Amino acid sequence: MKEFVNEIRDWAESFSPQEVMKKLTTAFPEQVVFSTSFGLEDQVITDMIAGLQLPVKIFTLDTGRLFSETYSVWNSTLERYQINIRAYYPDGEALNAFVSQHGPNAFYESVALRKQCCHIRKVEPLKKALQGAKIWITGLRSEQGSERQQLQKAEWDEANQIIKFHPLFDWTWEEVWNYVRTNHVPYNVLHDRGFPSIGCAPCTRAIKPGEDFRAGRWWWENNASKECGLHKR
Ligand code: ADX
Ligand code: SF4
Repeated sequence: MKEFVNEIRDWAESFSPQEVMKKLTTAFPEQVVFSTSFGLEDQVITDMIAGLQLPVKIFTLDTGRLFSETYSVWNSTLERYQINIRAYYPDGEALNAFVSQHGPNAFYESVALRKQCCHIRKVEPLKKALQGAKIWITGLRSEQGSERQQLQKAEWDEANQIIKFHPLFDWTWEEVWNYVRTNHVPYNVLHDRGFPSIGCAPCTRAIKPGEDFRAGRWWWENNASKECGLHKR
């Protein structure tokens, strides 16, 4: 599989995101999946997939701690596109044990507990969601931070043994907004309230002008890597 990464990079040089995704579904039938957190980038990709009726399994990881605004845009996305979005949930036993031992807001206590919460609520469900897939499409963009600048538009994910493709990797935030406005794509209203990057409610806040794109994520962890383990390198 790894050898296809270069080929996909070549495609991405010459073709639009839509065309590359189409080629991927032809090359890997039933094995292309897309993860959405209903962020602005994900909404653009959903619009592209739905517009072409591409046979891509769209899934979301419902951590149980999402903003109510996120559930609203999830719902308006279903209504607008008439598509299926598969939801994956944390393992009940693991979550029960974690919350019983550490309480509902353990993530504020230490980085280790925060990562454990992300592991139970996101990383483990992600493994289930990726089962049987060969290509994983995401809404990652290079502009989202210095760590993400080091990624590539198509790359091998060693942790999950899968090829990741980020169709909007080199798009600017403005280009994403332009697509959304031009195509009247439904979006999370929190984007209008200072939230460029939206994760779980207790772990995301609005940013101030001039702050980093992801400064509102796990804001109390000053020096730690602002990642939850979904996108390991
Ligand atoms: S995170 O790792 O910090 O949470 P971020 O919010 O920037 O990631 O989103 C980057 C990409 O990861 C999204 O475009 C989406 O593909 C995927 N992703 C993040 N959170 C979820 C989620 N809850 N469900 C499905 N996909 C997600
Ligand atoms: Fe838990 Fe916060 Fe991670 Fe969500 S972002 S899984 S609430 S630690």
